[in-house]
Amino acid sequence: MAATGTLAKYAIRDRVAIVTLNAPPVNGLSQPLRAGIQEALHQAKADAAVDAVVITGAGKMFCGGADIKEFAAGEITEPDLNIVCALIETLGKPVVAAIHGYALGGGMELALGCHHRIAAHDAQMGFPEVTLGVLPGGGGTQRTPRLVGVPVASDLILSGRMIGASEALECGLIDAVAQDDLLKEAITFALDAKDRADGLRTARALPVKDAANAKDTISATLAKVLRRTPNAHAPKAIARCIEFAASDASFEDRLIFERKEFLELMNGTQSKALRHLFFAEKAAVKIPNLDKELPLRPIECVGIIGAGTMGGGIAMNFLNADMPVTVLEIAQDALDRGIENIRRTFAGNVEKGRMTLAQMDRRMGLLKGSTDYADMADRDLVIEAVFENMKIKQDVCAKLGEVCKPGAIIATNTSTLDVDIIAEATGRPDDVLGMHFFSPAHIMRLLEVVRGAKTAPDVLATAMQLARRINKVAVVSGVCYGFIGNRMLESYLREMDYLLMEGATPAQLDAALEGFGMAMGPCRMMDMAGVDVNAFVLDGREAEGALPDTPSYRALVRKLGALGRNGQKAGKGYYRYDGRTPVDDPEVNQIAADLAAEFGIRRRNDITDAEICDRLLYPLINEGFKIMEEGIAYREADIDVVWTAGYGWPALTGGPMHLAQTIGLTKLRDRLIGLGQQTQDRFDFFTPAPLLQRLADAEGRADERLPEAV
Ligand code: 3HC
Ligand code: NAI
Repeated sequence: MAATGTLAKYAIRDRVAIVTLNAPPVNGLSQPLRAGIQEALHQAKADAAVDAVVITGAGKMFCGGADIKEFAAGEITEPDLNIVCALIETLGKPVVAAIHGYALGGGMELALGCHHRIAAHDAQMGFPEVTLGVLPGGGGTQRTPRLVGVPVASDLILSGRMIGASEALECGLIDAVAQDDLLKEAITFALDAKDRADGLRTARALPVKDAANAKDTISATLAKVLRRTPNAHAPKAIARCIEFAASDASFEDRLIFERKEFLELMNGTQSKALRHLFFAEKAAVKIPNLDKELPLRPIECVGIIGAGTMGGGIAMNFLNADMPVTVLEIAQDALDRGIENIRRTFAGNVEKGRMTLAQMDRRMGLLKGSTDYADMADRDLVIEAVFENMKIKQDVCAKLGEVCKPGAIIATNTSTLDVDIIAEATGRPDDVLGMHFFSPAHIMRLLEVVRGAKTAPDVLATAMQLARRINKVAVVSGVCYGFIGNRMLESYLREMDYLLMEGATPAQLDAALEGFGMAMGPCRMMDMAGVDVNAFVLDGREAEGALPDTPSYRALVRKLGALGRNGQKAGKGYYRYDGRTPVDDPEVNQIAADLAAEFGIRRRNDITDAEICDRLLYPLINEGFKIMEEGIAYREADIDVVWTAGYGWPALTGGPMHLAQTIGLTKLRDRLIGLGQQTQDRFDFFTPAPLLQRLADAEGRADERLPEAV
């Protein structure tokens, strides 16, 4: 096989064969690489000049696991990982895995198939398969409990978390941590092993450790995982496999059991959805038609205007990334409050053990406060997060345009205003873009990067790269009301209010959407975000003539806002609050009933969970097709990233646009038409987007052709 020589390199040093995985960037275990390792192992076995073998990885890491792209084929082509591991175990010469960078998934399983493992002190190891909707399918569920015991194996494989070398050594996943030169020490380890009684020890031959009460231990860990994702299939399959590890079946039967579970998951819709999101997140940062060699603008220090809820959260992102931040407020007392909020949040992290006191001190040392725009003059990037008011933002941005040094980037965190108008106010719109963080800004993963009409390409590219430095998942959006996320949210909230006026209760709506998998139902979400905040935006849009010409539009949220039912912070909103617990409030049902009477909306008692989900989700997806057609998003997958990373949309469905494909576009279109007929759709709320229409037509034609093709 021509490719194997380059994918798995073979060399001999001190009578030890060095097999180097050489498939950049992550040494993914594709079929050609597996075949290459197999070939190299055969060579080492046959070579009388070789006493032992070290498997290592070229480049940044040992191995990032199976090549996930191959999963789409629906089967694993031989030699699979089990064949490679069996060959190692029967080689007759000690094989040592020398781990640097990452050993993940199949990469860790390859290491577990080796007789011994030594890792660099900063190596990271783990089984992230569960996050891709699969399980370790190369013996990982069977060998791990033998090395580290059932409780640790269950925790590692069910959580998917990575561990460092010292923890791996402590729990028995590896045998040694290299002091200095990993490869040299691995060679010494391998040569020593040749003469040791346990030199050819295999994980498969060990008894399962800490197997007492295995079933209970596994169930308890599983229950913890399922609390977050009750509908997930992979954790349940992992639990079955680890339980099977402790059975008296032969090791071969255990591997067959694991493989069957693996293949079922791999070919299921959940894993397809999660793999789609894995690649979608990687693709989202890529800007089409951008010169890859384009020099980026250096960003080493940041300014933030406004130290309120968002300004403070945004500042913490940069402080956490070890970047100096100056926050500017309109007055000293607001500034003091803002800085105190940041300090309190860090102190909370210290209390919870998420941060050391020294780390907190370092971050606070990087933070400066100011009320003087002159302090923005040396900043590489300034983000404004002042009130959501165009006039105020224009004033702030005009000052920034004057004071910021040439080449500095000016960003706005507006969630609803026109970025192009804000950009013009600076007098240098090519330096401007939107950086739309989500609340709480230091926690939420999503960052919508808004490309203005005049944003310079290097400004856009710099923001995308910066997002990675502050651990955000970034997606580019064009300029429109609400960008990608909040624009799609609008139809979801619209139907929420209409259904409540028609007779559903907040608890019923939330249960239906949470049953679908949303992290939080819409009514609880509104109460968290602030009813007043949304009502304020609606008032502004009404004044601009941007709302449908009917007083019933979003009437409930506006009424609740007018009554001071501003959500959790007010103790009442869509719910009444008992502490932080939402309680159904008959008063809200009465308000909704009164509005229904006022607007001639028929009250019903036949609203099902299925209708609730269709009414809220289908128009949202429909809006996604409009966003695609208008070129607001580069790719459908970007929309999926926005919703899964920013709005608690269930990753197991792959996001709204991926779900559309799973539902089928014809069915989606027809259901929208049906909902339109049911609601006498005067404002075209349910009219399928032209792009959806066309794609559904094409899908229909493909269906019609199918019988002929067969
Ligand atoms: N398969 C295929 N492609 C992969 C891959 C994999 N396992 N891991 C990463 N890639 C690709 C990425 O898509 C990206 O491609 P691009 O350059 O075209 O966008 C490229 O490799 C580089 O990836 P990153 O930008 O993520 O590189 P980092 O250095 O930042 O991170 C990493 C490296 C921590 C290994 C990270 O890539 C990662 O977490 N990868 C996935 C690991 C994983 O889930 N492994 C388990 C796979 S399932 C399995 O092993 C089943 C087995 O049990 C049989
Ligand atoms: P906030 O009211 O908590 O904070 C705004 C801060 O800006 C206040 O501290 C105020 O004193 C300060 N400020 C006002 N005018 C100023 C000026 N001229 N110069 C300096 N500081 C000034 O508001 P919040 O929630 O932080 O929102 C800020 C921006 O972030 C808005 O544009 C909002 O739309 C956007 N946003 C808000 C989200 C949220 O969930 N709260 C989510 C995403 C974006």
